[in-house]
Amino acid sequence: METVITLAYLVAAALFIYGIKRLSSPVTARGGNRMAAVGMLIAVVAALMEERILNVPELIAGLALGGAIGAVLAKRVPMTAMPEMVAAFNGFGGIASALVASAEVLRYYAREIGVAAEAGGDISAVATAAFDRPLALTIALSVLIGCVTFSGSFVAYGKLSERLKSNGFRGLRAASILVGLGVLAATVWMVVAAPAFPAVEGPVMTSLVALAALALVLGVFLVLPIGGADMPVVIALLNSYSGLAAAATGFVLSNYALIVSGALVGASGLILTKIMCDAMNRSLANVLLGGFGAEATGGAAAAGGEERPIRSTSADDVAVLLSYASSVIVVPGYGLAVAQAQHEVREMAEILERQGVEVRYAIHPVAGRMPGHMNVLLAEANVPYDKLVEMDDINADFATTDVVLVVGANDVVNPAARTDKTSPIYGMPILNVDEAGNVIVLKRSMRAGYAGIENELFYNPKTQMLFGDAKASIKAVIDELKALQPA
Ligand code: TAP
Repeated sequence: METVITLAYLVAAALFIYGIKRLSSPVTARGGNRMAAVGMLIAVVAALMEERILNVPELIAGLALGGAIGAVLAKRVPMTAMPEMVAAFNGFGGIASALVASAEVLRYYAREIGVAAEAGGDISAVATAAFDRPLALTIALSVLIGCVTFSGSFVAYGKLSERLKSNGFRGLRAASILVGLGVLAATVWMVVAAPAFPAVEGPVMTSLVALAALALVLGVFLVLPIGGADMPVVIALLNSYSGLAAAATGFVLSNYALIVSGALVGASGLILTKIMCDAMNRSLANVLLGGFGAEATGGAAAAGGEERPIRSTSADDVAVLLSYASSVIVVPGYGLAVAQAQHEVREMAEILERQGVEVRYAIHPVAGRMPGHMNVLLAEANVPYDKLVEMDDINADFATTDVVLVVGANDVVNPAARTDKTSPIYGMPILNVDEAGNVIVLKRSMRAGYAGIENELFYNPKTQMLFGDAKASIKAVIDELKALQPA
């Protein structure tokens, strides 16, 4: 049986790794996701067999209940709320690890009571059953990281869903340092007290509760000051933390599958954090510490006041311009997701392609509200994957492109990132759409994007604004394109 379980864990680990590898391309991502899910099912069943938790009705009820909640949530959550859902998943992962590790302390308590009872109530016999320091350290780490992940993720959830507007309070940095020191002290206390008896009723339990409470506060304090545009980095980092908490719990339980899957999540979350930091041209320290005392950027009104001239256009003019182009690049942004215009964009591209126009899509790594947001959206509308071109690969081509259609994107095409040292997005690599022959921007108003700042692109003489909901605008362009076609 032991060999079967070890083999099952090995198969699960291989499926996780191969599944993650397949996530690196949209063509294979769905299969990769399923593969990793099968790996997780194998790992769960093996863990239940290993621990002899084989009550079949309970197992089926658990799978059915959890599966049903997951299915309903996945169906109901709109694409635009996906980052919040990821934040919630990270948070639940963190607290699950912390609870499982804490339960291990209670298990030792039960064992102490058992030993005492066997010894005919001789309490001194229990001293040998108290747990050791390495175990106490792994439990402490699991509770610490798990609780920070839980509260930090729900602060991120609140910020992303715009329910939580606060960026903290004066003295937050000092308060965070104090709480951090408290967390350290509680961890040391728990490790030092571990062999003491009685373990649970004594200092171990007190330090565990103190550690959990302080870690929950620390999670809030760490994420609270981080500004809107840095949220993608924070979500990726919390994702990594949830993996580390799971890996620590794996050591507590001596469960290989949990150690491997936790380490994989921890490492891939860190890699994603690095990719996000590079995409925004920020260091991780700058993201995490730069927010202290900073003003909120997300949602703030654009600066200015005086009216500046812009060129607005109509669907029929856009249709004519597109028909005469030989190359078109579509730049999707968050507004495309809000309008759910992906199917219309694909239909428009197909009409143009039939007329011999080359159409491609330029994907900025932080367009939308989550990593890969635009890829997922366009894949849903069956846009061929080879038409999606990453920023670094397409940026040189804008200069030779006739028309760029910016569909609900704003910050990721804002030239202030290149030129304005005072801008909150200064240094973030952007799509160089202003180098193209013509730029058409589809949005509903002159309102700012996520970073809350004015966009010079809209005032560029090459730019024309097509105002309205992106879906309605593209539909109107499609109608005009069809009307232009010879009968
Ligand atoms: P944004 O800068 O947020 O701009 C989106 C634009 O879409 C808005 O200016 C809005 O203008 C327009 N819009 C909204 N609804 C629309 C509709 N129904 N039809 C047409 N237009 C609509 O988007 P972006 O360029 O994709 O940049 C993403 C931003 O989000 C970056 O600052 C990034 O750092 C941040 N962020 C990214 C992530 C990840 S991981 N991708 C996560 C969190 C935050 P109107 O209101 O005038 O229509």
